Amino acid sequence: PTAKPVIVAIDGPSGTGKSSTSKAVAAQLGLSYLDTGAQYRAITWWMVNNGIDLTDPTAVAAVAGKADIVSGTDPAAPTITVDGVDVAAAIRTQEVTSKVSAVSAVPEVRARITELQRSLAARAERGIVVEGRDIGTTVLPDADLKIFLTASPEARAARRSGELKGADLHATREALIKRDTADSSRKTSPLAKADDAVEVDTTELTLAQVIECVVTLVEEKRTGK
Ligand code: DC
Repeated sequence: PTAKPVIVAIDGPSGTGKSSTSKAVAAQLGLSYLDTGAQYRAITWWMVNNGIDLTDPTAVAAVAGKADIVSGTDPAAPTITVDGVDVAAAIRTQEVTSKVSAVSAVPEVRARITELQRSLAARAERGIVVEGRDIGTTVLPDADLKIFLTASPEARAARRSGELKGADLHATREALIKRDTADSSRKTSPLAKADDAVEVDTTELTLAQVIECVVTLVEEKRTGK
């Protein structure tokens, strides 16, 4: 008999190693992978491209259903398109990064993206690792395993500026804290640790150690320990 699909929710602020960890865990365990931040970035990209006034939540809500966002869930080669256009690079610009919190705070946007996330999770035959901010609390409250990754602001900023090659550490730290504060304080499903999530502080851990820790937790769940 084929094993029951396993659903893993990985939440936490930016710079905690969520994406790298989630992708590697999914690849090692043969599961699908979904980056929900990429979906919020993709809808933000569409809004910017279509000249929507992002300071006006009513205007954002009115077009929340317009963009056709498709996520490819292979952890070895995740993809994201909007209306058939590959936006993988375009959604990582400073402009999208600075605007995504405003767009993702709008309830109509969250309802629409949450629906996409649930349907992808339901269709993953062997299971899926879903990373984001509200996966364990709101999107998939019945996940088999919930992980909440944390790290000190200094460690998170250092990791991000490493990724951004030569970005100013202080500016990166300030921008990251600003975005996390916005994401944690919004009304509709803010960034939060689910009561039944396992918290892993990655400040002093290498990526390999975090991956191993999560893989072990998934395997314990699977074997019913
Ligand atoms: O993971 P990321 O930095 O690419 O996410 C970009 C933004 O998307 C983040 O600042 C908040 C939002 N987001 C969200 O509101 N809910 C999620 N599940 C994932 C991301």
